Amino acid sequence: MSATTTANASELHVLDHPLGAAQLSILRAQSTAPNEFRRAMQKLALLLLVEAARRWEINSVAMESPLRSFTGQILPRPIALVPILRAGLGLQEGMMQLIPEASTGHVGLYRDPKTLRPVKYYCRLPEKLAESEVLVLDPMLATGHSAVEAVSIVKAGGATRLQFVCVLACPPGIETLQGAHPDVPIIAAALDPELNDVGYIVPGLGDAGDRYFGTG
Ligand code: URA
Repeated sequence: MSATTTANASELHVLDHPLGAAQLSILRAQSTAPNEFRRAMQKLALLLLVEAARRWEINSVAMESPLRSFTGQILPRPIALVPILRAGLGLQEGMMQLIPEASTGHVGLYRDPKTLRPVKYYCRLPEKLAESEVLVLDPMLATGHSAVEAVSIVKAGGATRLQFVCVLACPPGIETLQGAHPDVPIIAAALDPELNDVGYIVPGLGDAGDRYFGTG
């Protein structure tokens, strides 16, 4: 994983792993069927979770094996996943395989056709957000406006220890999110160079929600 931090901007971590690259190629390919797409998204979610969890607090505790005492390690904080509806649900579903004890909050945003800004239509967040390790999930960090809004909503709910996790990020989205929330690390599987004129990441993978749910 490579990490970069610029002055007054959050950390940006890009997954640099052959297993991630292989799953990402499946996601990108136009020929990938929805069932394969879902499987690849969930596998990639696990790899992204492993990277995000490096930043979580861990406590040492005295424990007993059948043979002798040892110093064990536990995650002392609750974990909360907050997918942005609807594409973020694919990342959440994958991560829950490794951390089924996590709570899930949901943030629903739509784009106002006049202002093109995200507007909240649904929000239900877990309790204990203030003490939780929180991952805000959206596969595509495109313009960054939804990400900024979702992170603001989760912060307003009390979260302080949060990271933004995506599959693909591109420069405008990174700049927008880092500008608004310089304290929030961004974890991405890969960086793509640009957005097209309708705000899709290029080369990207298309509409992540449509491809995950087979609605495209
Ligand atoms: N949302 C998507 O699903 N895909 C993009 O490329 C950008 C935003």
